[in-house]
Amino acid sequence: MTVESQAPSREKSRVFITGGCEGLNELSEALARHGEIELVGQSDSVREGGGPLSGGHLQVVLHATRSSVLPVDELAAIREYTRAPIVLLASGESSALLEDALDADVADVLLLPQLTENVVFAVRKAGHAGRRQSKGRGGDGRVITVFSPKGGTGKTVTATNLATSFAKHAGKRTLLLDLDLQFGDAAIMLGIEPEKTIQDLVVAPGELDPEKLAGYTTRHSSGLDVLPAPIRPEDAELVTEQKLARLLEVAKESYDVIVVDTSPFFHGPMLATLDRTDDLLLVCGLDVPTIKNVRLSLQTLQLLSFPNERIRVILNRANSNVGMKRGEVEAALEAKIRFELPSDRAVPLAVNRSNPAVLSDPKADFSRALREMAKTLLPAQVSKNGGKRKFGRGSKS
Ligand SMILES: Nc1ncnc2c1ncn2[C@@H]1O[C@H](COP(=O)(O)OP(=O)(O)OP(=O)(O)O)[C@@H](O)[C@H]1O
Ligand SMILES: [Mg+2]
Repeated sequence: MTVESQAPSREKSRVFITGGCEGLNELSEALARHGEIELVGQSDSVREGGGPLSGGHLQVVLHATRSSVLPVDELAAIREYTRAPIVLLASGESSALLEDALDADVADVLLLPQLTENVVFAVRKAGHAGRRQSKGRGGDGRVITVFSPKGGTGKTVTATNLATSFAKHAGKRTLLLDLDLQFGDAAIMLGIEPEKTIQDLVVAPGELDPEKLAGYTTRHSSGLDVLPAPIRPEDAELVTEQKLARLLEVAKESYDVIVVDTSPFFHGPMLATLDRTDDLLLVCGLDVPTIKNVRLSLQTLQLLSFPNERIRVILNRANSNVGMKRGEVEAALEAKIRFELPSDRAVPLAVNRSNPAVLSDPKADFSRALREMAKTLLPAQVSKNGGKRKFGRGSKS
């Protein structure tokens, strides 16, 4: 097996070749040189190619078969790793195969030898059809990422209460993803004891799809699904950018909203999350070190070309009497504060009872402010048919 490159590219079609047949070597050499194809790798055995086949990053699998009839087992083996469209290659006369392929899960069949351009066209066509199909499956869940460059500012409190509120008060299909990969404590704040974590999900064999994702989340009593951080800090590195990118794509198919709790770093998984983030909640506090670091984060986000209109600054513990006012924070940040959350005894009480404040003390000032924020954040178009009640449509939450 050879793996030539795994770097994703936007313009080229990412292709993996499996199997073998007469004429394949010439074709794969020509494809490797072709400007519109990124040949990720090639493996005669589907099982050996399993690693690069999985992860959801391929646009097309070219599978060459020596069989004169439809290679059902070979196709099933590929499907264990990827949902990418399969273009079947065979050599010589294979009329039985062509006939069977009409009803099979293959995008196209090409009998070799073929002009390279014909194969490239079939690949592009199959890739387009695959993209249309995956769009048709949904994929418009909203990703709301809660970030702060300082520890202890209230990221997890905000993320857990927000996600609970979306699930419980707005009846949204909500996933809370704990991306504080080393020391995540979203599960403990919610009082759940998960059997599986994001680490189990990313190391599990086979391609990720909504059914598989559902097998790794833990349901909270509010209706919220939680994908917790790994139990051991050393397992954090297993959650690669590529795995996370696929995870978010699948989650967007299954959920109306995905709330992401984070650690105070711009590491690889965080950057992959930013790429798919619709709303970035940047948590700030009324202390100079936090303000300095939030300001630096805003500059970093600008360098990363993260759209400014997606950033919402939250001032947590906004009513604390510490000799600083909202206007001074805004002046220092050169950014408007979009939401204020009050300092409230209900919050540490709720944390210590492992029950989010919006549930354990819904009348507390913090809970009210949080619910108002949730209503503002969740635009009406996020609602899907499965929702019970909806924010922003005159419903009481
Ligand atoms: N508005 C608030 N009122 C009162 N206490 C608060 C408020 N927000 C957060 N806290 C307290 O601050 C503590 C830290 O909050 P939290 O764990 O959410 O911070 P974090 O940003 O996630 O920290 P880390 O970076 O360590 O994960 C919580 O245990 C909570 O009790
Ligand atoms: Mg936290």
